[in-house]
Amino acid sequence: MPPTRRSVLAAGAAVATAAALPIGLTGCYRSVDTADQVDFETELPMPPLAEARTDASGRKVFELTAQPGRREFRPGRTADTFGFNGDFLGPTLRARRGEEVGVAVRNDLDEATSVHWHGMHLPAEADGGPHQPIPSGGSWEPAWYIDQPAATLWYHPHPHGHTERHVQRGLAGLFIIDDDHEAELNLPREYGRDDIPVIVQDKRFDDNGQISESNTADAGMLGDTVLVNGVIGPYLPIHTRYVRLRILNASTARAYYFGFTNEQDFAVIATDGGLLETPHWTNRVLMSPGERVEMIVESTAGESTVLRSFPPDPDERLFGDSNGGQDSLDILELRPAADLADSPDLPERLTAITRLAESDAVAHRSFSLRSQRINGQRMDMNRIDETVLVDTVEVWEVNNDHGQYHNFHVHDVQFQVLDGDDDLPEAHGWKDTVFMPRRSRKRLIMRFADYADPSMPYMYHCHLLRHEDQGMMGQFLVLEPGQQPQFGTTEHEHD
Ligand code: C2O
Ligand code: CU
Ligand code: CU
Repeated sequence: MPPTRRSVLAAGAAVATAAALPIGLTGCYRSVDTADQVDFETELPMPPLAEARTDASGRKVFELTAQPGRREFRPGRTADTFGFNGDFLGPTLRARRGEEVGVAVRNDLDEATSVHWHGMHLPAEADGGPHQPIPSGGSWEPAWYIDQPAATLWYHPHPHGHTERHVQRGLAGLFIIDDDHEAELNLPREYGRDDIPVIVQDKRFDDNGQISESNTADAGMLGDTVLVNGVIGPYLPIHTRYVRLRILNASTARAYYFGFTNEQDFAVIATDGGLLETPHWTNRVLMSPGERVEMIVESTAGESTVLRSFPPDPDERLFGDSNGGQDSLDILELRPAADLADSPDLPERLTAITRLAESDAVAHRSFSLRSQRINGQRMDMNRIDETVLVDTVEVWEVNNDHGQYHNFHVHDVQFQVLDGDDDLPEAHGWKDTVFMPRRSRKRLIMRFADYADPSMPYMYHCHLLRHEDQGMMGQFLVLEPGQQPQFGTTEHEHD
């Protein structure tokens, strides 16, 4: 690559002070264009499926160890990394609705971390947020009952103030939930063959080959190199007419606008929390950090295409030029064999989704996103921002009052987007994270079905992880009627 303005700037800044980077680079983010420039030479590796043992009580127990590692992302250049049960990323956990699961987590890092089950409906004490830190050398064994529809969830650390770095270094993995209903549909579901995990992350590597942790944009670190399942330049050999891609945007800051270079349509079949009612055909899908999509892609024998992130229409001003709005990134080549096995036609109907009714909402709350704060406040571990009543429906109105994009994630629940744009899959399915273009408003409706706990909060936050670390996060308790919060400095001081 020729020297760029950015590398010149970066070199100058390294001599001066790294702390000058966030401000210095904000106005002059240099767009990245890797369209047609990526050599797809590495077969896409599949994260292994984690094995589980069944304990005496019939619980399915997984083991995860967060550990330091090293990986040669490019030949001859080794980066210090973190991984679960390996040097980078983690195994795919898989469980079925109705199962009792536990995870024996060990922390072999030199610092505290935590493991959060993103998208999972579970008790707050098992959630793995900032109130469940695992000290260096320590362990943690949460357990819960899986009671939600088939979906592609994920797990990642959530230590207060350090989430970005832990995820950036490689701590992330998928958690797939299966159920009887999904199992009866004619959908590709052979893991690693026609049902493919696609964990997308952008990185920048410094001159020594280390993963860069410096800011490049207001959103955080926008990289110039994309990894899928931990490798650069991957291709996926295809043997069947249909494949199902389970895409996770595990980037810390970047939003992608995915499509294929041959402009073919694909069918989005699931959003964060599970299946859509019907396949949603489109040629673009936007994914901000933390979001998942399952899509079905049809291939033609011998005809390759590339999954690319395109620049969105500049008129829509979705990302903003200083946050990657002009970037084109080649991600993954789909490489069909000369002969493809036929796949059954897609079901016309996937599932039933009962719309939550606004008239059932017992509370309306509003959240204003601005300057790495929510409603003007920064996260305080000792402050409860909201209390909700168990088994009630609420409407949360989120306003992005800022001139740049954010997103909004709520723990514990899957919500529906009220008055959403019908062209977006998010308007039709279960979500736990939504994109918030600059100066936008979305209303979310959700039911806090169970798990009241007066002493342990859940989080809501921007999933641009630098923003989250900077305090763009708040805490809510789920309470029984009449219950008082038992939370605050006095109760927790001596824990
Ligand atoms: Cu994916 Cu609170 O996190
Ligand atoms: Cu989460
Ligand atoms: Cu943000």
